[in-house]
Amino acid sequence: MAPDIPRAVALLRSGELVAFPTETVYGLGADARNAQAVAKIFAVKGRPADHPLIVHLPLNTKLELWAREVPAAAYALADIFWPGPLTLILKRDPAVPGIVTGGQETVGLRVPDHPVARALLAAFYSGIAAPSANRFGRISPTTVQHVRAELGDRVPLILDGGPCQVGIESTILDLTRGVPIILRPGAIAANDIADILHVQPQVGAAGDESAPRVSGSLPRHYAPRTPMLLVDLPDLQAEVKARIAQGLRLAVLSRTAIPIRNNLVYWQRSVPEANTYAHDLYAHLRELDSKDVDLIVVEAPPRSGEWDAVNDRLTRAAHGYTDDEEP
Ligand code: TXA
Ligand code: MG
Repeated sequence: MAPDIPRAVALLRSGELVAFPTETVYGLGADARNAQAVAKIFAVKGRPADHPLIVHLPLNTKLELWAREVPAAAYALADIFWPGPLTLILKRDPAVPGIVTGGQETVGLRVPDHPVARALLAAFYSGIAAPSANRFGRISPTTVQHVRAELGDRVPLILDGGPCQVGIESTILDLTRGVPIILRPGAIAANDIADILHVQPQVGAAGDESAPRVSGSLPRHYAPRTPMLLVDLPDLQAEVKARIAQGLRLAVLSRTAIPIRNNLVYWQRSVPEANTYAHDLYAHLRELDSKDVDLIVVEAPPRSGEWDAVNDRLTRAAHGYTDDEEP
């Protein structure tokens, strides 16, 4: 059945929530100009109120409607990367409700590249504030089934757009602090941005008190319920065997290791290539998490730049569980 865009627009106009697909992950949307509607997002997600939301815009929206002091860099990047998985942090226009920006003086803006999101935004003809459509701290949804599992009947309408093409959240770039700063790595890499701006973006310094709050920058985020361990390839087989010897049930996500066949082990292979790995990552983590095991073991990807976004998500998902720790 084709997504019911007119009903989605009517719901948004009446202050209700609509979950919708984007090219990165599914979003949980509300009218960004309606503070009461946006408040429902926080209630449904269980998200702390001081965490800002990204405003999704139709293509060719005047940025000045949402931001003041739009720097030349913003136009240049929007021109190249929108619609697409890049969120720009700009100084907010005073008319943007404080609940959208978490009370900060900045606003995150992005034009998503998914036919359903684009049709929705074109018909709504304004901004839709939307975080990922999962409960706070959990794995972002990349299929409509994931959204149903996370939010179920708490949302009046979930638009089905199939599996998300990119699979991990947008790159977030702060353009309000003189030098461009990447607050969250994504499919658009630092070098892609540098090619346009002719300056290399910095990578957001964790623990900087003056830095904007990014919930994706919390140490533990995007997390499965099952404890998760990241292990480098040379140690993977030994680690798995040692855990089996302890009687633990394991779910393993591996790119390159030879699978270990054992009753205690569920082994999921992933592709060796970064973009496809990212595309499948959250679906794989959900699947491993559903296996009712004691521990998830993930083969750590390479440390090279193309893996930055994946490594960021895996490190946060595994946070709190280290090699030395019992799960
Ligand atoms: O790909 C995406 O960005 C997806 C899709 C739905 O667009 N959205 C998404 O939203 O990942 P969410 O809320 O799960 O993550 C948005 C991140 C949060 O970490 C939030 O703190 C940050 O963006 N953010 C939003 N506005 C900000 C601002 N003004 N300053 C700094 N960070 C901001
Ligand atoms: Mg999120």
